Amino acid sequence: MCGIIGIASNKSVTPNIIQSLKKLEYRGYDSAGIATIVNGNIDEKKCTGRVDNLEKMLFKNPSNGSLGIGHVRWATHGTPNQINAHPHSSEEVSVVHNGIIENSSELKENLEKKGYKFKSQTDTEVITFLLTDFLKNFDLINAINKTLEKLNGSFALGIIIKKYNNIVVGARRGSPLAVGYGPEENYLGSDSYALKSMTNKITYLDDGDVCVLTSGKIEFYNSKNIKVNKEVLTLSNDKYTAEKGDYKDFMSKEISEQNITAKTCIKEYVDQLRQDINLYNFPIKPEEIKKIVLIGCGTAYHSCVTAKYWFEEFTNIPIEIDIASEFRYRKIKFDNKNLYIFVSQSGETADTLAALDLCKKNKAKTCSIINVVESSIARSSDFVLPIHAGPEIGVASTKAFTGQMLVLYILAIKISDVRKETNKSDYINKINELKRLPGLIKETLKCQDEIQVIAKDFLHARGAMFLGRGLSFPIALEGALKLKELSYLHAEGYPAGEMKHGPLALIEEGLPVVILAPKDRYFEKTISNMQEVIARGGKVILISNEHNKIVSENVRFTLEIPKTDDYLTPFLMTIPLQLLAYHVASLKNCDIDKPRNLAKSVTVE
Ligand code: F6R
Repeated sequence: MCGIIGIASNKSVTPNIIQSLKKLEYRGYDSAGIATIVNGNIDEKKCTGRVDNLEKMLFKNPSNGSLGIGHVRWATHGTPNQINAHPHSSEEVSVVHNGIIENSSELKENLEKKGYKFKSQTDTEVITFLLTDFLKNFDLINAINKTLEKLNGSFALGIIIKKYNNIVVGARRGSPLAVGYGPEENYLGSDSYALKSMTNKITYLDDGDVCVLTSGKIEFYNSKNIKVNKEVLTLSNDKYTAEKGDYKDFMSKEISEQNITAKTCIKEYVDQLRQDINLYNFPIKPEEIKKIVLIGCGTAYHSCVTAKYWFEEFTNIPIEIDIASEFRYRKIKFDNKNLYIFVSQSGETADTLAALDLCKKNKAKTCSIINVVESSIARSSDFVLPIHAGPEIGVASTKAFTGQMLVLYILAIKISDVRKETNKSDYINKINELKRLPGLIKETLKCQDEIQVIAKDFLHARGAMFLGRGLSFPIALEGALKLKELSYLHAEGYPAGEMKHGPLALIEEGLPVVILAPKDRYFEKTISNMQEVIARGGKVILISNEHNKIVSENVRFTLEIPKTDDYLTPFLMTIPLQLLAYHVASLKNCDIDKPRNLAKSVTVE
């Protein structure tokens, strides 16, 4: 992961570097650092923890160079301490790095033989010394290229060099890197979001590219060392600013605005007049699709699991779902009549991007469902379906999850209509019910107070379970993931019918078990599974849209969600589970927006 920034200017760059690093903290926050050139020498300052610590450090001991690089870290090689924090500098060169250098041990050994003394345990320091070494005998571009040639693995780099004290160098292989054009300065950043407050004129480096920034000019070189021009994009203004407003944290804001983001998304895709879904220029004719493969990681994967149920219900297309980190290494049998759909909020997840690259290499048809439309995954896929959720800052994905499910649902009903696998009136009914969804989400959000009470039961629990069948099963998985990542409580999501095959052994007196039982075709079966849990001492929290006193007997809490079409219930089931994770974590004083050990954008394998 990690976030990098670089600025070439004529005035002090520190304030803008700090401001951008704060935006990049979603990529990593175990340490932070900055390097500038002051009085002809590299001035490096770094610390453990948040950018706030770095800011305090710089307040006491300023660094006022007119060009510089900055970094927020998510540790891969070496513990998150001050020495391992980036930048990594020699007398001559300072480097910030996002990615992993796979052959760093071997390179380190050779450099040590040449007399270079390593301070850190990171893989990045080899880049510093390699470049320092090549600069002794080569000009800038050649020294950079010689260095990059030695590296195996993935990287986005920001570099400053004592000898060239008016330039910042960027390089990309496998990890994203954006370049921004300002009126009197130029920028380098892990994403456009970090640069947005400074400029909306952006371009992206392709794999193998190197860029050289001065305050007035940007030059690009491709992997063959040929100077190239790049298209400059103008970024759109976000409808939802990435500010917390009156909310305590981003997560509570993002949970609360799901009715609005759902409404925006539906408006983008549904043609109200024609009662149809707008979907043009699809990479493959829906009638010709032989199989759909849905791929993602974490929460995005859970949206794929949910979509499998919809596609299977509405179409005759065989559906597969895959976790990107597994897909990318398997011996997949590609077929150009299959459609490979990649789901990702950030659009930068390394495993998802690698899985997409594998499909592209095999000339497969690809489509991505993305929140960040300027992202690498969006730019690499044949067709992009944005979720229109606005910036999601909280590390735990919430509104992006509902957005991903929404676009997948819309896609499933549209494909079934085009393939004539559903009748027209059913299709129109589904569209009409969809239009009611934002209002129902808003109503469901009112369960906040009840959830606050329920959350107290989880405070001293040793773990928790989430059970559901059919479309409620993936939501159980998501509920468990949210609880574990936010509150650090062990939680498992299971298909309710699977309990007796092993997991039932985990049920003990007082274990909180969340049962998702909407009144669908699985209702009675799920309720029987719930009774099996109660009989073994489980403390059941039943979430349903069926108010039934008999069923609720012996249940510790019953939470009622609004009634809707069975197929749309997952959207409403999700809300109380997000709120539950939020309130349990709040009660435990966990860092809601930045849970330990995690980062928002997972750009390493
Ligand atoms: C969990 C969460 C992660 C992400 C996963 C994929 O709350 O946010 O599991 O869903 O890292 O990220 P994207 O969607 O950016 O590819």
